[in-house]
Amino acid sequence: AVQLRGRDFIGLVDYAPEEIQYLIELAVELKRKHKAGEAYQPLKGKTLGMIFEKSSTRTRVSFEVGMYQLGGHALFLSKNDLQIGRGESIHDTAQTLSRYLDGIMIRTFAHRTVIELARAATVPVINGLTDLSHPCQALADYQTIYEKKGRLQGLKVAYIGDGNNMVHSLLMGAAKLGVNFAVATPAGYEPDEEVLRQCKESAAKAGATIYVGADPKEAVADADVIYTDVWASMGFEAEQKEREIAFKNYQVNDELVKYAKKDFLFMHCLPAHRGEEVSEGVIDGPNSVIFDQAENRLHAQKAVMAAIL
Ligand code: CP
Ligand code: NVA
Repeated sequence: AVQLRGRDFIGLVDYAPEEIQYLIELAVELKRKHKAGEAYQPLKGKTLGMIFEKSSTRTRVSFEVGMYQLGGHALFLSKNDLQIGRGESIHDTAQTLSRYLDGIMIRTFAHRTVIELARAATVPVINGLTDLSHPCQALADYQTIYEKKGRLQGLKVAYIGDGNNMVHSLLMGAAKLGVNFAVATPAGYEPDEEVLRQCKESAAKAGATIYVGADPKEAVADADVIYTDVWASMGFEAEQKEREIAFKNYQVNDELVKYAKKDFLFMHCLPAHRGEEVSEGVIDGPNSVIFDQAENRLHAQKAVMAAIL
């Protein structure tokens, strides 16, 4: 049986395929229980601290509500209100918070901040998004695909747009789960090379393929899922104008989705910029599952917390 108690959840890279599958199955089961009105409160008396150095709607609310539904309690800790905002070290913050809390979720800029926090903390640490990755979103997304398609292995996901945190986690999830993955980005905005190397290694073991190129049509060809994300992520707002130019041929719209399978799913982690990375017709169209994705953040993160805390 899969045993995850005490583990950090920093990247899917640290999780074996069967552990990721286990979390997805658990998320589906916790969703069923919740909808049936069956209480499941394994975290009674436990507290999760949530450190935010960036904005959030979904992550904050789904973690807070999820912890509540599991019988525990969550604390919102904004960077500006913590002493980290005035220069207290990550190390001392991690050591101190570990004396009060049973787990720490953090959303921050540099990925190494999460690594440092996890090293110094004596309680599990969860990555709620960094500039490098967003594993909670990817886990919820594979849950969504699994629910909609009934399987994962052998499907094709196409990601169009910026080679950012989102595509890194989606790639890693695909590589572990045996999902074929195609990425199309403009030159200069490709996914991180080291992440790609790791993903290719896992994909080879799972018998999945990874394609990275510049042609959206080629990426989308015969895809089961089309995924996109904003062109300028949090922290890159100053590049908005130049990115609009670089990405102008990378919009997911009615013309592009013609190349995918008829029953393709359109996915986006949200928040979205309608009319930029995706047309209104597609994001609000019949193939879009964006709010199922958003909902599954709750169930997937409950699975993670129930498993590790
Ligand atoms: N998708 C996502 O993480 O949304 P928030 O930024 O609202 O948390
Ligand atoms: N890539 C986006 C995802 C937001 C959930 C960002 O980092 O801003």
